[in-house]
Amino acid sequence: MEIKTYLNEQKLAVDGALKKYMLEAEEENGLFSAHIEAMRYSLFAGGKRIRPILCLAAGAAVGQRPSPDADLLSIACALECIHTYSLIHDDLPSMDNDDLRRGKPTNHKLYGEAGAILAGDGLLTWAFDLLSNSEVSGLQPETRLVIINLIARAAGSLGMVGGQLLDISNENKEFPFETLCAIHRSKTGALITAAILAGGIAAGADQAQQDALRRYGEQVGLAFQIVDDLLNATSTTAQLGKAAGSDASRGKATYPAFFGIEATRQKAATAVEEAECALNIFDAKADPLRAIARYVLTRSH
Ligand code: IPE
Ligand code: IPE
Ligand code: MG
Ligand code: MG
Repeated sequence: MEIKTYLNEQKLAVDGALKKYMLEAEEENGLFSAHIEAMRYSLFAGGKRIRPILCLAAGAAVGQRPSPDADLLSIACALECIHTYSLIHDDLPSMDNDDLRRGKPTNHKLYGEAGAILAGDGLLTWAFDLLSNSEVSGLQPETRLVIINLIARAAGSLGMVGGQLLDISNENKEFPFETLCAIHRSKTGALITAAILAGGIAAGADQAQQDALRRYGEQVGLAFQIVDDLLNATSTTAQLGKAAGSDASRGKATYPAFFGIEATRQKAATAVEEAECALNIFDAKADPLRAIARYVLTRSH
């Protein structure tokens, strides 16, 4: 399997589903068209869709159903809405204060701070609308509740939101390695792990499969943020579609700041190896998950 082809195909499926759900939201909300436009702007600005794709790939690793199927796609879309909201807020002047995202002006540059905060709020809330809407997804109610709870916890104060505060409050500070681990685990790893587990649970994963997917998710999530740190330190703004070199200038807690570039590369590679090891109990249906782990290491943006 060629990973680029696979990622493109899955991205198209996610984009198609997002467009369909977004159109329905637009039809219902003519009065709020400017707000929906701000949400749509960031949602379709060109993200890689890695969290939804991981969700679909985890479902395919466990399930017999063709992937991507409708149930998994609705969960996948909700995950992308939460992720896009987190980026809109991450870029705000009071957070990372960035002007460029996905190669385009950040949301607040176009819609103002209030508009961007509300676009983020709208995407976050809409995600839970999608997840809880029985017309969108045919999941059993108990399974749906487990997945909603899993994603809420990962996105909230004990996950991404808490991690974002830890990230901001440790700028320009000396901190122990444990703090760096906690930042990466919560701000990035939590949602990535939840995406993978949600896909697996929706497809009927048993406990052993869930444990394996969690271990895979934690290592892929760690590798993903380490590589984000590496790219910020070594790539260009044109290549990334977001400001290169910004972590160092803001005194962010990153792997390169802690270990230097070469040791950081090694740590990302080790995390990817461990992620692949965690999948040992799965057969060839988990090959896309294996390939995504390796792609995380070599991604260029
Ligand atoms: C960027 O995430 C923020 C991190 C958590 C590292 P992505 O690299 O997945 O961003 P997009 O969605 O492709 O723009
Ligand atoms: C983003 O982390 C994590 C989020 C939860 C949004 P960063 O601030 O390191 O990501 P980029 O580099 O702006 O995409
Ligand atoms: Mg940040
Ligand atoms: Mg940032």
